[in-house]
Amino acid sequence: MNKDTLILGALIFGSSGLGAVEKKPVTFTEHIAPIIFNNCTTCHRKGEGGPFAFTTYAEVAKRARLIARVTESRYMPPWHAHSADYKFKDERRLTEKQIDLIAQWVKTGASEGDPKKLPALPKFTLGWQLGKPDLVVKMDEAYTVPAEGRDIYRSFVVPLNLPENKWLKAMEFRPGAPSVVHHSLFRYDTTGRARRLDERSETPGFTGMGRQDGRGATSLGGWAVGGTARFLPEGLAYRLPKDSDLVMDMHFHLSGKAEKEVSTVGLYFTDKAPENTFTDIQMPPSFGALSRVDIPAGKKDYTVNDTFTLPIDVEAFGVSAHAHYLGKELKMTANLPDGKTRELIWIKDWDFSWQEQYHYEDFVSLPKGTRIDTKVVWDNSAENPNNPSNPPKRVRWGLQSTDEMGSLSLMVKPKRAQEIGSLNTAMRQHARDHSVARALQREGGLGARILDAAMRSDRNGDGKVSRAEVPRWLSNRFERIDSNADGQLSREELQKALSRLGN
Ligand code: HEC
Repeated sequence: MNKDTLILGALIFGSSGLGAVEKKPVTFTEHIAPIIFNNCTTCHRKGEGGPFAFTTYAEVAKRARLIARVTESRYMPPWHAHSADYKFKDERRLTEKQIDLIAQWVKTGASEGDPKKLPALPKFTLGWQLGKPDLVVKMDEAYTVPAEGRDIYRSFVVPLNLPENKWLKAMEFRPGAPSVVHHSLFRYDTTGRARRLDERSETPGFTGMGRQDGRGATSLGGWAVGGTARFLPEGLAYRLPKDSDLVMDMHFHLSGKAEKEVSTVGLYFTDKAPENTFTDIQMPPSFGALSRVDIPAGKKDYTVNDTFTLPIDVEAFGVSAHAHYLGKELKMTANLPDGKTRELIWIKDWDFSWQEQYHYEDFVSLPKGTRIDTKVVWDNSAENPNNPSNPPKRVRWGLQSTDEMGSLSLMVKPKRAQEIGSLNTAMRQHARDHSVARALQREGGLGARILDAAMRSDRNGDGKVSRAEVPRWLSNRFERIDSNADGQLSREELQKALSRLGN
């Protein structure tokens, strides 16, 4: 055979030769291990939440078929955040190609392949997702969570004994009994008040969730079931004064089995003072407490909308959502002043078990005047497999896990730090509007009382409040309420104005 025939042969048989390369068996060491180690092992290893470890061929091969099934259905890796416009950090989504490779591997016998090709496991720290913390603290006594009863809200105090003020970049919370801990909100206390409340109680911790100031100035973030700890973006940090006690406001949902909770917390510090401050915009406020959530039994798509206009330029860096078992869909969009609409997050298939904080890959600029809209949808039908009641029953807002909550929170920093005050004021006003609206809609409540008070100023008893009769607290609204402009306010006109406020 001369050189030309060889080349000719290569040309003729070349394509089938290439095909053979592609069809070469899919093996664990070469194809599958990189996928599993980089997307699964962070949770599927000793000390983490996954029910079994995926660190070796044997461990993965043993569950090969199950792995093919849960990756195909996208049940694993768990990830519920979508955005058509922005990319999230550390997005846990396999590509179609990766899913196909796993399926092919399982179909062709799940072989190991050449052990020399096995990639090294990524560097994990036993017991931590964020690596070795700068300080680890622990509840000094176990709190016994009974087998049965109503949900428990209880606060625990952990002295930090910091010799100096610190800047905190992250906190990683590790529940001792993950099956019963639903959430833990962190704050610091420098007054000793929490410590005294704890000492007064015979069992560890104290009840009351008492925030020491409603403005959250002492808040250090929080953790909820399925959450992954995250570092704050560059340039941001929580202030943690020396001699602070860490206070954890925790929510337990009893599991039918008594448990002992000892939470461990890892703290990560930075020497760099923050360049800016940050806050979160929660919509609707107070986890929906002011939104009259009242979901009829069987209702499939009970929806609460909220809307808030930014009074200043901000940059968003994260977003999270909260609901209980009936939650179905949560969505937040930004309507920019130039008319464009952007999807900040869309959770199409809410799962109570994965209450994550999602961070954007890059800061999202939202200029002053941007209108943020949110939508929370609950499914209280029998078809919702997570419905705790069968048959479904009416569910209202409340603290029990079988009650409902629902909200989205956007974490933002102001573009100019000094403007944070305007944002906080607008958010407080937003919450107040919700409270007023709720009060006005309650029968016999504030709305009725305002109406009575207004009608009482009808001194000549003609059933209308004239310009001369109107009390001072109503006078600057007179023209707006007087819809037929006859210079008098009728009961109907007042009622209409009140219900406008209530919507
Ligand atoms: C963020 C943590 C996390 C990641 C990442 C993760 N898992 Fe899981 N996985 C869990 C937890 C927790 C459970 C148990 C609860 C559950 O089944 O939802 C679980 C359960 C499973 C199960 C059992 C499901 C069943 O029906 O019994 C399989 C199989 C599985 N994971 C495979 C994977 C694979 C494959 C990957 C990567 C492609 C992966 N997981 C990534 C946390 C994780």
